[in-house]
Amino acid sequence: MEHIRSIEELARWKSEGREKKLGFVPTMGALHDGHLSLVRLSQSKCDRTLVSIYVNPTQFNNAEDLAKYPNTLEADLQSLEMTGCDAVFLPDAQMLYPDGLKSRSFDFEGLDRYMEGAGRPGHFEGMATVVTRFFELIGPDLAIFGEKDYQQLCIIRQVVAKEDWPVEIVPAAISREADGLAMSSRNMRLLPYERKNAAQIFAVLSSAVAELNPRETNPKAFENRCADALNAIPSIHVEYVSCCDAATLQQVDEFNTNRPTRVFAAVQCGKVRLIDNLPLF
Ligand code: PAJ
Repeated sequence: MEHIRSIEELARWKSEGREKKLGFVPTMGALHDGHLSLVRLSQSKCDRTLVSIYVNPTQFNNAEDLAKYPNTLEADLQSLEMTGCDAVFLPDAQMLYPDGLKSRSFDFEGLDRYMEGAGRPGHFEGMATVVTRFFELIGPDLAIFGEKDYQQLCIIRQVVAKEDWPVEIVPAAISREADGLAMSSRNMRLLPYERKNAAQIFAVLSSAVAELNPRETNPKAFENRCADALNAIPSIHVEYVSCCDAATLQQVDEFNTNRPTRVFAAVQCGKVRLIDNLPLF
């Protein structure tokens, strides 16, 4: 696996395989099997796969979160090597932000109105700034984003369509631990009893979805049931439970089984914030 640390090295690596289909997987490192599933998906669709590892300061609205972001570079490189990844891009801030650590401004047309957009001001601008900069430098044919961060996926799709980036955005299903907890680099910060309780998040949401009466039309009642059941789990405090249109991410006022809809949740588990989402219809 090639380790690329400069724009010149990137240009050379790109020119060596100009005619090959290039898949790109952006990450912030602390890799787990969820990330590796994106790499494998890219490999199944492309001739070459490049993974970037960069903890992007502009998407953190909380300095402590940025400072505490885990760094497991040696293990990450080993996992990528074992997965058969072709190259890893390890840029620094100077390469990505030659004019200083500033976000571009975007109009996400309401996709950022709820959920993570409401609770983390500036997060999506920072994320879209670095992802479009990666597209500019790397020029991938395809880029993979996980449904774990469903709102991020929708926002990137919108930016790519609006700004006409010649890249196909491919979604990857959420990878879960054996007990259902969505894989996340934050899970390693959970204390053992919190980790055990965190498995109940998926259990609660998936049984609420399975038990939803097809005649029920009121999302608020469903959201309240989920929130109450989540708040009843020890160490869990709900930040939001929200039923949103799967394409526009606007909150739905009434269930319609013909309209793709997902339930989204963010909770605090001890000191760690966790998110998850599931399709409803
Ligand atoms: P990061 O949190 O490292 O995630 C990198 C990619 O892995 C994202 O597309 C995310 O949705 C996906 N991912 C994480 N956990 C997953 C899981 N359990 N199942 C499936 N996919 C999962 O998301 C970012 O980094 C950053 O915002 C980034 C796009 C790199 C821009 O800085």
